[in-house]
This record gives sequence, structure tokens and C-alpha cells, in this order.
Amino acid sequence: MPTDPAASRPREDSPAQGAAGGVDGRGEGGASDAHHADFWEALYSRRSIRRFLPDPVPRELIDRVMHAGTWAPSSCNYQMWDVVAVDDPELNSQLTALSSQMGNAPVNLVVSYARDFSEEGWANVQSASAMIQNMSLAAGVLGLGTFWITQMGDREKLRELVGLPRDRLVVAVLALGVPKVVPAQGPRRRPLSEVTHYNTYAGRAIPSSTDPADWSPELLSLYQRARVLNGLRHNKPREWETRALVTFLDRCLPEAHGAAAGESETIRPWLDVLPCSGILTERLSRERRGFRFDVVERTVEVARFAAGRTRPRGASLAWPEESAAEGFEPPAPEAYDVVSCFFRLEGLQATERAALLSAMARWMKPEGRILLGFVSSRSFHGAMEALRRRRGGPGGVEYVLAPDPNIGPFEALDPRTVEEWVGAAGLRVSERLALGALPCAEEVAFRTRNASPRLSRLARGLAACLAPLGRIGGIEAARGRYRFLVLEH
Ligand SMILES: Cc1cc2nc3c(=O)[nH]c(=O)nc-3n(C[C@H](O)[C@H](O)[C@H](O)COP(=O)(O)O)c2cc1C
Repeated sequence: MPTDPAASRPREDSPAQGAAGGVDGRGEGGASDAHHADFWEALYSRRSIRRFLPDPVPRELIDRVMHAGTWAPSSCNYQMWDVVAVDDPELNSQLTALSSQMGNAPVNLVVSYARDFSEEGWANVQSASAMIQNMSLAAGVLGLGTFWITQMGDREKLRELVGLPRDRLVVAVLALGVPKVVPAQGPRRRPLSEVTHYNTYAGRAIPSSTDPADWSPELLSLYQRARVLNGLRHNKPREWETRALVTFLDRCLPEAHGAAAGESETIRPWLDVLPCSGILTERLSRERRGFRFDVVERTVEVARFAAGRTRPRGASLAWPEESAAEGFEPPAPEAYDVVSCFFRLEGLQATERAALLSAMARWMKPEGRILLGFVSSRSFHGAMEALRRRRGGPGGVEYVLAPDPNIGPFEALDPRTVEEWVGAAGLRVSERLALGALPCAEEVAFRTRNASPRLSRLARGLAACLAPLGRIGGIEAARGRYRFLVLEH
């Protein structure tokens, strides 16, 4: 842990008041004067705490945390922040109804800032954020834990619930309580050399564009490595996508059920291609226990992460060949009964797509098969994407609709073009399946979760009314969002 010489410099301008000197007008000290953690210790040991004891937090401590917040810098020192500490269990359960994230801690600090003050350069949000970070560090020193919540559901409803006037902008909520579980170590950080520069930026910035053409393979590798460093918490499967995948498996690879039931002792090799976070690989390995799942990825870190989600654990292999290293070899040719690639061609640059299909053809046994899944551009997917990018909505790569959760850029593919690449790789299509001509009610509910309740209800009602249309013969085959192909030599 680095130490800063400035840290030991005597302070000449310490404020007379402050945590050690009591909280202005709201009582002195409190139980925690014993906590005087070293600054660096406080900084580096702070973790987002998501599991708390139910014990109430004494208001003296809550006050001290909030007091530390008010010593943050604010734009022009306007200090237009207002914090509402919610420690009433009944009110907290109403907050939880807006977002389950607010159901973890006995206290939720609702942090707001004047909506129309200091808007230049988002200085209002920046000031509130400085306050939140101060409170978070102070809580750690007091033996409390916090976690920063932006997924608050309908923030206007939240504002009303805690009685804040309309011209307060709810910026975030800081959950506060006595930690039940403190993570042994935090999610790893990107290396300093990758994110900091002197005088002139000398790095290669991760694009926010969703267009695969803007992402060189190296940048994609960097990004995906950073994503898996965060662990599994941000990688939750979307049920409608895994359901489509399982439906396809049940229709096109039913023979493996026998092996799952223990009728066959032979474990056959299956190669899952570019699994990234491994969400789908994990599901595949649970669905088809008659196979061992090896994975092929661009970097050894990502490959190991995904392989670690399969049982029995498969091998971590390299693609393209240039990314191979000792202990990170390319897959052997003609070694796999099944080679699968689900929703990954969409994130590659156009030139890599055909190359990957050719490599997959080499990796499978002569009598093996390739299972390919992709999102069709001849579906409602494009309209959903356009809605997502509507003015004011989040537009960047972090929010692309599929695969969910996203792992990089994504563009839906034209099924005819995909079949051209298939032919160019010397493969033929032996089966086709198209699913999901219309968004299911669950997805509509999820996509509109932050919209006004009225709009969300309207969208869900519309989806329910239109659902039977999507099942009319031929519509799914022509307009299905999820396309699956079985390919053979
Ligand atoms: C602006 C901001 C918003 C966040 N929103 C959430 C959230 O809604 N839910 C959540 O679980 N964590 C949230 N976090 C916590 C981050 O996931 C967490 O800080 C990150 O994974 C690093 O872990 P650490 O805080 O333990 O170092 C947020 C953090 C920040 C700074």
C-alpha cells in the first residue's frame, strides 16, 4: 500500500469542529472515538458492503457520517445537498419496494442536490458524489459499512416517499449499517499504468460505442478482462435469453439427456467459443452433463474465469493463435463432438467473424457438429435498441440489449449473411430454429422498470395483447430474434 509523504505533514488548518470534535449541535463523539484509522488504511480497506446485521445504527453515528459528508467540497461551496437518513423500518420497506437494493441495510441515506444549481459540468452531481464518498470513508472508520446505490427504481417516487421537494434531484442512496460480511478483498482494479498518464494521454481508450467496427480485438480483450475482474456480481443471466438457448438444446441436442441421467459413462468433449463471463457456458454444462466443457477465449484470464464455472472444470484455450502462450494453447484440431458459439459473433469485427467460423470447423470432429446462436437483425431487436437510445436514455456499450449482461459491442446479424459465412467455412446447415418474434412480458417489465409506472403498465399490457401474434405460423421463422443453426461438415 503506498504511503504519501503529505499524509504525515502536520495540519495547520484543521477545522475546530469535525468528527473527532463532535457533531455540530447534535451531540458529542459517540461510541466510536476509539476509531481513528490511518487515512490510507481507511481508503484501501473501504469495501462495498452488501450484507448487514439488522441492528439499528445509533443516530449519533449516523450524524457523524453525515457530518463528514458536509465537509466534502461542493461547487462554489453552495452546499446545496440534502440528505434524508431513513432508519424507520416501515419506510425502508417502502424504499425496498422501489428497488431491492435498498432492502439490505437498516439505514438508507438518500442523497439529493438542488436540481437546477451548479448544472454546468454536472457540478451538482459531482458535489453530491464527493459527499457520498466522504460519508462512505467516515462510516468505515466508525466500524460501519456502506454501499452506493444508483439502481433506485423510480427516483421521483423515492423523492416523494422521503418528503424531498421537487427541485431536489435524488443523486444516489448510500446504504449504511453494521457489516455482516466484509469481502476479504475488493474487486481488482485496472492497472495504474493503464488508466493514468502524465501530460498527454498515451493509452488506448475503451470505446463507449456499441458498434463492433470501433472495437479492435485488443480493446475487446482489455475490456472483457476488466469485466471479469469484477467477478460474477455484474453478470446475471437474463432468463429469456437462457430460455431460448435451452429450448434450442432440447430440440437439437436431445440425445445428451440420456448421458445426464447416467445412461452413458463417456464424457464427451464440447468446446464453447468466446464465452467471456461464462454465464451461458455454466448453464450449458448444467444442462448437458454428458460433456466436458473446454473454453476458447482471447485472454487467459477470461478463459480461466469462464472455465471455472463448469463442472468438471474444462481446459482454457486460446483464439486467435497469436494470443496463445505457454499454458494457454489453441484448441486441437478435430477434437470436439460439439463446438458452440452463442451470441458472440455479433460483437466481433466483420473480418473476424468468418475467420472464427472457419476455426470452429477445424476444431470439431469430422462427424461432430457446431451449434451457433445469434440475434437476427430481421427482428424487433433493432426497434428495442432504438427505444433504448431514445433521448435521455443510456446509449453506450454498457447498456446494449444483448447479450445480457453485455460484454462488449453488439450488432444483430442478417441471417442470410451468417449463412454465407457458414458456406465459406465449408459447413452446411442441418437444422434451423428461430425463436422470439416479439418481446416476452418479462423482458418488457424489465426494460421499463425505470419508466413511470403508467408507461410500464401500458407496455406490459401491449406485450401481453400482442403475444399470440408472435406464435402465428411462419412469423417466428421469419422474424424471430434468436436464431440457432446446427452446422455440419
Ligand atoms: C456511482 C456508483 C453507483 C453504484 N451503484 C451501485 C448499485 O446500484 N448497486 C450496487 O450493488 N453497487 C453499486 N455501486 C458499487 C460498486 O459496484 C462498487 O463500488 C465496485 O464494484 C467496487 O467495489 P468496492 O466498492 O468494494 O471497492 C456503485 C458505485 C458507484 C461509485
